[in-house]
Amino acid sequence: MKPYVYVTRKVPEEIYHKLQEQYDVDMWPEEEVQVPRELLLEKAQKADALLTVISDQLDEELFSEAKNLKVVANMAVGYDNVDLDAASKHQIAICNTPDVLTDTTADLTFALLLATARRMIESAEFVKEGKWKSWSPMLLAGTDVHHKKIGIVGMGKIGTVVAKRAAGFDMEIIYHNRSRHEVAEEMLGATYCSFDELLETADFVVCLAPLTEHTRGMFQREQFQKMKKDAIFINASRGAIINEQALYDALVAGEIAAAGLDVFEKEPISADHPLLSLSNVVALPHIGSATKETRMAMMETCCENLDAIFNDRPPKTLVNKNLLSL
Ligand code: DGY
Repeated sequence: MKPYVYVTRKVPEEIYHKLQEQYDVDMWPEEEVQVPRELLLEKAQKADALLTVISDQLDEELFSEAKNLKVVANMAVGYDNVDLDAASKHQIAICNTPDVLTDTTADLTFALLLATARRMIESAEFVKEGKWKSWSPMLLAGTDVHHKKIGIVGMGKIGTVVAKRAAGFDMEIIYHNRSRHEVAEEMLGATYCSFDELLETADFVVCLAPLTEHTRGMFQREQFQKMKKDAIFINASRGAIINEQALYDALVAGEIAAAGLDVFEKEPISADHPLLSLSNVVALPHIGSATKETRMAMMETCCENLDAIFNDRPPKTLVNKNLLSL
């Protein structure tokens, strides 16, 4: 009998058929609507494997009832939607999709920085709405990116590649991270500094830290107040790292100049969220890794991980590596 795999979001036919060759595949058929929690719990109870997305909450309640579950292939590098301890307790392998999305996510992060600094979304809307009457010296003037100071909070793989992009723009690079990143220091001239120093001196504060118990709520009003008044804040990691109300208040009070956000505390952010009413906020629907090539590569990685588990090989991108020693 083929292992039963439940896929929690509609995937392209190519991936679906590939999975079907080896597994008994069941899939939530919607592309934009999340699988209801009750149904996910019901499917998990008989699944040998789950292929999930970041909006699925995978916790003790789910794992304790999922008696056959061997592996979760989570289609993301981040796995803050998974209770890792609970998964390990039930000996369920959790796999993610790092590496294949690094460059793509760094591209989007830098594009968001450029779009926010150069007011690109506002300018594009201005043209489409027929508001452009003539060339004017200060019309939609933004702020320079080149030769400015970028402060990267979270110098992991994506942070390092963002730093590489920044070096190409002749930016001075400072960073704050749990540990020093010698390669970024030597190859890109990045300078390690304290969180406070980064906040106080960077022209662009770019958050790329993973969401953990240490980073949750890391940016409160106090942190925004420490930034330069003309600083631009970019978040491309997880929304819960910042307090959105504090960000809104800081923007309205003119304590920072603008924000570019690809992620939100609650996704999807509601259309009437106060942050979306501000012209100096560029908001995107969590599209960091969203290119056709990268999304396919992420799904391929999920397939490879399932393949490894069902063929008694260690998965390439296992998160709870402690399971290997069991
Ligand atoms: C990730 O991979 O963690 C992204 O945020 C989802 O694309």
